[in-house]
Amino acid sequence: MDGITGLRDKYLTAIAAAEGETALEEVRLAALGKKGEVSGLMRSLGGMTAEERQTAGPALNLLKDDLTEALGAARARLADAALDARLATEWRDVTLAGRPAAQGTVHPVSQVTEEIVAIFADLGFSVAEGPQVESDWYNFDALNIPPEHPARQDHDTFYMARAGGDNRPPHVLRTHTSPVQIRAMESQGAPIRVIAPGRVYRADYDQTHTPMFHQVEGLCIDRDVSMANLKWVLEEFCRAFFEVDGVELKFRASHFPFTEPSAEVDIRCSWAGGQLRIGEGDDWLEILGSGMVHPKVLRAAGVDPDEWQGFAFGMGIDRLAMLKYGIPDLRAFFDSDLRWLRHYGFAALDVPTLQAGISR
Ligand code: PHE
Repeated sequence: MDGITGLRDKYLTAIAAAEGETALEEVRLAALGKKGEVSGLMRSLGGMTAEERQTAGPALNLLKDDLTEALGAARARLADAALDARLATEWRDVTLAGRPAAQGTVHPVSQVTEEIVAIFADLGFSVAEGPQVESDWYNFDALNIPPEHPARQDHDTFYMARAGGDNRPPHVLRTHTSPVQIRAMESQGAPIRVIAPGRVYRADYDQTHTPMFHQVEGLCIDRDVSMANLKWVLEEFCRAFFEVDGVELKFRASHFPFTEPSAEVDIRCSWAGGQLRIGEGDDWLEILGSGMVHPKVLRAAGVDPDEWQGFAFGMGIDRLAMLKYGIPDLRAFFDSDLRWLRHYGFAALDVPTLQAGISR
């Protein structure tokens, strides 16, 4: 029996002293493993007399249970200690203020383009595109602007440089989005209802002109589309875009080679107190060119002018952005000045401000 008490003390001390899972496992094997000391004693019960076995058996079982229990408690203690050690090094202070992430803004031109697309989508127009480097056929000839036409000079065109011996047709940076009319009709035929927003280029630079700017073209061709439809569409657009119910538009007779008749459209506004207000006052501000698509233009795009007719218009997107958001100088749009971008830019989640419910 003294032997058993000795073993208990020896192993309980070893268990208490074990400083890790491995050390603890070694103690367990030494006592209770197959070749362990306690296991050996258990096996020796077989060689004892019945009398000896009666006292030694229960004593050994008790020893085994005590050691097993002590091992379990020690394992839990080690696990707790390991967790405490991790918690001491791996904590995060969730009450700390966040690190500010630099935020970009949406450029007014992008914002206004999205507003325009959203409004015309409501009116049943889809979006068409064309290249910015355009052949002079698409940019001029197909639009009824022959080579000697004065409009070619009016546009202050950028011509692409050509190497000597290059016999490809001349190319230009498109001076307007009107060539997309031709491309859209060529690929989709009639009837068609598209707008084409995009970059255009003219050699011009002052407070309201930059060599690159943005236009949105509109084209609507069907069997009986008239100037009346053009007027309604433009009025609905201005109402929704400027968020003013009482917009008033003035159609002024004008001339474009690709439309007949042609009209430039002015919007009623006031500059009282240096502030622009749309829909009131005695001033008129030109916002777009428009007209009924010329039969020659339809024919150039493969659409039969005896069967189809319709209107087209072209507006300056940057001009619309300046008007709606009161931005005085166009040149600043393209200076990439961060202070300007932060001031006039929009948050990424600003949805286009549309007047609810375009009347149909
Ligand atoms: N392309 C013309 C311009 O840039 C605008 C326009 C488009 C006029 C369509 C009539 C029809 O000035």
